[in-house]
Amino acid sequence: FFLAMVLVLSLVLFANIKIGVVLPMTGGIAAFGDMTWKGIELAQEMYPEVLGEKIDLVLVDNRSEKTEAANAVSRVIDKEKVVAIIGEVASAHSLAGGAVAERKRIPMLTSSSTNPLVTNRKKYVSRVCFIDPYQGAAAAIFAFKNLNARKAAVFIDVEQDYSVGLANFFKKKFQELGGNYFIEFFKTGDQEFSAQLTDAISKNPDVLYITGYYPEISLFARQARMLGFNGPILAGDGAEAPELIKIGGDAVEGLYYTTHFHPKGAATEMTKVFVEKFKEKFGFEPGALHALGFDAYLVLRKAIEIAGKADPKAIAVAIRQVKNFEGATGMITINKNGDAEKSVVIDVVKNGEFTYVTTVNPAAE
Ligand code: PHE
Repeated sequence: FFLAMVLVLSLVLFANIKIGVVLPMTGGIAAFGDMTWKGIELAQEMYPEVLGEKIDLVLVDNRSEKTEAANAVSRVIDKEKVVAIIGEVASAHSLAGGAVAERKRIPMLTSSSTNPLVTNRKKYVSRVCFIDPYQGAAAAIFAFKNLNARKAAVFIDVEQDYSVGLANFFKKKFQELGGNYFIEFFKTGDQEFSAQLTDAISKNPDVLYITGYYPEISLFARQARMLGFNGPILAGDGAEAPELIKIGGDAVEGLYYTTHFHPKGAATEMTKVFVEKFKEKFGFEPGALHALGFDAYLVLRKAIEIAGKADPKAIAVAIRQVKNFEGATGMITINKNGDAEKSVVIDVVKNGEFTYVTTVNPAAE
């Protein structure tokens, strides 16, 4: 009996804490998965333990697909028996995967899904990033005040909840400020935007606002320039991946986008530590998704600490008790809806590099 007790005790004591990570490691937006994972890897290397136990990460690829986004969450919960999940990247994927996590009562923390519906009326899904009403407003203010735009052509990817939502929040704020807009549609995977662009350009917009992800944005910018549009192009956080510049080339020079982080916009002491360690490990400067992945791991680890045990329900509650936590992207407070309230960074592509412009707080405008 004594021996059995020792065995059980040591199992309990040395059982690692298992966390699932669901990301797009292949498929359309694989660059996002790669960036997020690098941030998570670094965080685990720096903080490998919590409550005296080792944290084990189980990475599963959602192949950049909605059905796989849900399947992958089921898999880490049912097969791997994780106590929490970090994921996913695209809002459509977090909506699909989050529904499963909510039903199975396993906390899921997304690093970068910004559509408000991702956490809406959920107890188990939270995020370490701002939400799109905020991001859309920041873009509208920037377009109106900094770019002096009065007429915007808004391009919407009808397949992405992220894009549809972000475009709507932009429109609302831009109109409020006194600007007007018109809309053009496209969908994920499109390679040809000349019909929409020709129509848009004929209406003489001051700015093209494209909400979507880098594969489409890079081609879109090339075609916009080829068709003779010389004005500013503005995008959302979905623009930032090295591929944007690789594919977009000269056409994305001068492209502005709203995002979460830039190493030059150092927000906290942790930003400096993060940037240093990241460069040491990977040999290049980190971007927004690297920083957000890093923060998601740290916030989840903090929540496990607050919970005092690796219990899914307690962790879910504790995530929303994280206040004024010093992350790489800024001070993180998770509110009762499971959302983080943070400022928006604006970057521009300059000489083939993502360059810091400014940090804005749309709530204050
Ligand atoms: N915000 C995007 C979404 O919700 C995801 C994203 C964030 C992509 C940051 C790139 C960088 O779908």
